Amino acid sequence: MGQKVRAAVFPVAGRGTRFLPATKASPKEMLPIVDKPLIQYAVEEAIAAGATKLVFVTGSSKRAIEDHFDTDAELEQALSESGKDELLASIRGIVPPGVACIYIRQGAPLGLGHAVLCARPAVGNEPFFVHLADDLIAGSPGCLAQMAAEHERHGGSVIAVEKVPREHTSNYGIVAVDASDQDRVTEIVEKPAPENAPSDSGVVGRYLLAPAVFDKLEKIGEGAGGEIQLTDGIAKLLSEEAVYAFSFDGVRYDCGSKLGYLQATVAYGLQHPDTGAAFKQHLRNLLDA
Ligand code: UTP
Repeated sequence: MGQKVRAAVFPVAGRGTRFLPATKASPKEMLPIVDKPLIQYAVEEAIAAGATKLVFVTGSSKRAIEDHFDTDAELEQALSESGKDELLASIRGIVPPGVACIYIRQGAPLGLGHAVLCARPAVGNEPFFVHLADDLIAGSPGCLAQMAAEHERHGGSVIAVEKVPREHTSNYGIVAVDASDQDRVTEIVEKPAPENAPSDSGVVGRYLLAPAVFDKLEKIGEGAGGEIQLTDGIAKLLSEEAVYAFSFDGVRYDCGSKLGYLQATVAYGLQHPDTGAAFKQHLRNLLDA
């Protein structure tokens, strides 16, 4: 029923203040989890979900992201000459053939909704993914692929949600759903206080949105925190089009926070073929000490 989704938008223009001073001159999205930066996990998840057009909405001090997805002839030659074929393959395969990267600057950090709106000329009139790279989700298939399958099943927009502790509702967009209608969203509120939250279902950093959301974002003014909120755009969309909440299968790590980042590093370090066994032993030793 739904269309194939070809465009993925990565809003990466935020300043990452929760991670200062690390993010003063380097993008938060370039923080590595073991040996890959967060934005590479994001791109891999989008490509696995069928995206062929990757739209990065960038800001100041984010140039490292462009460099990461560009070819580096000098490095490739050096690795090739020294016979480091595995490493060569790891940097050559980052963006496969047939996938295009498009970079758009968000002139001022006016909010996530504004960042998404900046991507409009590159996305056009098609459904698209929005992926927030600091929400790392370990899942197989990946979260966006699960959402694309959901969209193909019943059409409409799809937003990923998970249960959050009541006392944390003020950190999330919170949705109310109609459980008798495939979890169709009936209300969405940005960062409500626990006593005003319509539920404990928090929106996480994965969206599959109908292009009609662009018109809504264009019309809404500043919302919470003086920013143009994506949540407010989605709230406007609800009255005209179906938006579904989707409880994904996987584990989310909030890598925009120090604790979430450390938890992800431990989880991925334990899984990684180069580090897993020795790292596990190291953690055991630490706990025994
Ligand atoms: P966050 O709320 O996590 O903000 O933005 P942030 O600046 O990245 O991090 P903190 O809170 O200061 O530590 C959510 C997502 O929206 C993007 C961010 O890059 C992040 O992926 N964003 C936010 C923009 O692209 N532009 C904006 O104006 C605001």
